[in-house]
Amino acid sequence: MLKDKVVLITGAARGIGAGIARCFIDTGASVVITDLDAELVNTAAGELGADVMGLVADAASQEAMGEATAKVIDRFSRLDILVNNAGIGGPKIKFEEISSSDSAFMGMSDEVWDQQLMFNLRTAFSSSHAAIPHLPEGGSIINIASIAALGPTATLPAYGAAKAGVVHLTKTLAIELAPRRIRVNCICPGLLWTRAWELLTTQMKASQPEFANMTNRQVFDSIVERMTPLGGEQTPEDIGNLAVFYASDGARMITGQVVAVDGGISVQ
Ligand SMILES: NC(=O)c1ccc[n+]([C@@H]2O[C@H](COP(=O)([O-])OP(=O)(O)OC[C@H]3O[C@@H](n4cnc5c(N)ncnc54)[C@H](O)[C@@H]3O)[C@@H](O)[C@H]2O)c1
Repeated sequence: MLKDKVVLITGAARGIGAGIARCFIDTGASVVITDLDAELVNTAAGELGADVMGLVADAASQEAMGEATAKVIDRFSRLDILVNNAGIGGPKIKFEEISSSDSAFMGMSDEVWDQQLMFNLRTAFSSSHAAIPHLPEGGSIINIASIAALGPTATLPAYGAAKAGVVHLTKTLAIELAPRRIRVNCICPGLLWTRAWELLTTQMKASQPEFANMTNRQVFDSIVERMTPLGGEQTPEDIGNLAVFYASDGARMITGQVVAVDGGISVQ
C-alpha cells in the first residue's frame, strides 16, 4: 500500500516505535528508525529486517535530525512520512527522578521540568523542523502523544503538559502545511507494556504501599484492569495500524486530528 514511500520513525529501537516500524514494513514502505544509542539502533534495525536503515540521532536536536534526514535523502532520494514517536525520558532518565516527592509537582525542579519538555515536546518540534523541507505534496507527519495529553495525571505534570503541547502542535502544523497538502495527525496511546511502564511501575512500587509486594507486571496489569473499558492493554501494532492509515491515501482528507488508541480509557 505504501510501497514507494519512505518513513522515518524517531525513538523506534524498541517499544511503540518498533511496533510502528513493523506495521510500515508490512505495507512495503522503506523504513528508517532513529534512537539515541548506536548498539540499540543497530540491533533493532537488524531484527526488523535487512532493508531497515538505523540512525543515531537525538530527536530533540534540529542539527542531529538535519544530518539524519540528509542521510535518508542520500539513500532513498525522498522522505514521505515522519513519525514523531521519541519520548518519555531517553535511556538514562529514571522515573524516580521525575516524581521524587509525595507531590510530583512540588518535588519537581526546573531542570527536570525542562528535560521532560525537551524529551516529549521539543522532540516533535525539532524533528518536524528537520523533515518538513523534504516532505513532498501528499506527505504526512504523525505525532505520538498520550492519553496524558487529554486529561490530567497528577503524578506526571510535565509529561502531561508536554504531550498536550504535542496535540496543539499537531493542529498548528496541520494548518501551516495544508497549502502544501502535507497532513499532520496525532495518536494518543493508552497503556502499553514497554520499558516506559517498567520504569514507571518501579517508581510506583517505591512510593505507593499498595503496590509494594507486587511485581512490576502485576502493578501494570492492575492499572490496565481498573482503567480500560474494553479490557486489556494496547500493543505497539494497535498504534502502528492507525499510523499506517493516517499515512495512506485513505486518510487524504484527514488532518489535524487526534485519536486515542486506549481501549476507551479517555472517554470515561
Ligand atoms: N507505553 C505507553 O503506555 C505509552 C502511552 C502513551 C504514550 N506513549 C508514548 O509513546 C512513545 C514511545 O514510548 P514507549 O512506551 O515505546 O517508550 P520506550 O521507552 O519503550 O521507547 C522510547 C524510545 O525512544 C527513545 N528516545 C527517547 N528520547 C529520544 C530522543 N530525544 N531522540 C531519539 N530517541 C529517543 C528511547 O531511547 C527509547 O528507545 C513516547 O512518545 C511515549 O510518550 C507511551
